[in-house]
Parts: sequence; C-alpha cells; structure tokens
Amino acid sequence: MAQRRPVIAGNWKMFKTVAETRTFLDALIPQVRDVDHCDVVVAPPFTGLAAAVEKAAGSRVSVSAQNVHWEKEGAFTGEVSVGMLKDAGCTHVIIGHSERRQYFGETDETVEKRTKAALAGGLKPIVCVGELLAERDAGQASDVVRRQVQKCLGRLTESDLSLIIIAYEPVWAIGTGRTATPEVAAEMHAEIRKIIREIFGDAAAGAIRILYGGSVKPDNISALMKKDDIDGALVCGASLDAKSFAAIIKYL
Ligand code: PGA
Repeated sequence: MAQRRPVIAGNWKMFKTVAETRTFLDALIPQVRDVDHCDVVVAPPFTGLAAAVEKAAGSRVSVSAQNVHWEKEGAFTGEVSVGMLKDAGCTHVIIGHSERRQYFGETDETVEKRTKAALAGGLKPIVCVGELLAERDAGQASDVVRRQVQKCLGRLTESDLSLIIIAYEPVWAIGTGRTATPEVAAEMHAEIRKIIREIFGDAAAGAIRILYGGSVKPDNISALMKKDDIDGALVCGASLDAKSFAAIIKYL
C-alpha cells in the first residue's frame, strides 16, 4: 500500500485583499516552519496569487488558484489560463468546486477540460466532487459522486492521475457548520477509491490523495484524519485565520 502524504489546503474563496494575503502568510509561515507531516496549500483569489507566491517563497506553503480556463489565451473575458497561473508562480489549481458548479455553470465536461489543460501545463489539479443535500436525502449520494469521478477523471491516463488530488466536499457540509461525521466522510472516500480502482487499478487507487471538505475546524480535523481513506482537508472558513489554519495543519 502506497504511503500517501496528507494535504491541508485552504480555499479562500472570495476573501482577502493583497495586503490581507501578505499579513496572513507573515503570520502562518513561522507557525508551520517545522511541519513536515503534510503538504500545505493556500488558494487566494486571483488578485492575491502573486503576493502569496512571493511571501511563500522558501517556505513549506504552496500556492493554488481557484479556477483555470482550458484555452491557452483568447477572447474569454473573466477567465485565466494555465500559463498565466504558472507565470504567477502557482503550483496547484482547484477545479470544479461546488460553488462553481452551482452558481457559474460548471459541469463535469468543463471540469474534465480544465483538468486536462492544467495537467498539460504542469499545474496540479485539486478536483472537487460532492453531492447536494437533496441527492443525499434521496439516497443518490454515491451515484452522483460516481458520475462526477467517472466523467471528470475517468478518461485521464494513470500518469495524469498521479498528479491529481481529489476533494470530496458534500455540499450540505460546506460553510454550514454541519461537518460530515468521520464515518460518513470515510465511507464516501472509500467509495471514491473503489471507483478509481475500477478504472485505473490498485496502484493508482492506493496512491491517490482524497481530501475531505466541509466545515473542517481545528476541533474536528483529528477525528477525520484518523480515518484510513481521508488524506487531508480542503478548508475555507477555518482557513482564513492563520492561527486556526495552523491548528488544522498541526492536527497530529
Ligand atoms: P468550509 O468550506 O470549510 O467553509 O465549509 C470548504 C470549501 O468549500 O472548500
């Protein structure tokens, strides 16, 4: 069984100015200087990326964007390309977050396109999946997540897959304070790993990192991380304060 290195990622959504980005990293970096049990990623809005990269240089913190377009350049007002994100110094990009899917027309097809473009350009995708509350209540959670994993990732190569991080974020748990119990989360993580095994085989399934997202806090991270199939967390609310994010990073 592959040893999977945990990842704790902060998705800042539409929060923090450039100045606030600098202040945050000045506070965070000394607190995580000795952390070597996990990868640490922050995902500021586009405007904060360059400042975050500058501040994070030489530290253990990697910088991610929150979205990327699949074309190299062109008439796509409001979009940003892989090359632009690389130029800004990003190493990761979040793709297919449920807010993109719910409010901005993101589909499994566009998630696949963005993911392929990110991989081709050398960015590591953090691909989000997760069911709505109504889908869980209707007993469709596994089917929805299966469809998302198959359509977003199913046509990649095994070597592409080795660069991907999956984030399972049940939509009913995001920003609601209603964290999935470690058992509910772990059950879906195991299901996702099973789907990856069916498509790509044992080695890929054993190696892929699957993060949980949805109301992760300093006081619930340890219980989540104790579950075998949970390899880290994608956090918004509790990642916006450096002390709270550092506490999550130091979940051990
Ligand atoms: P939350 O958001 O931690 O505020 O629930 C998580 C996310 O949407 O990535």
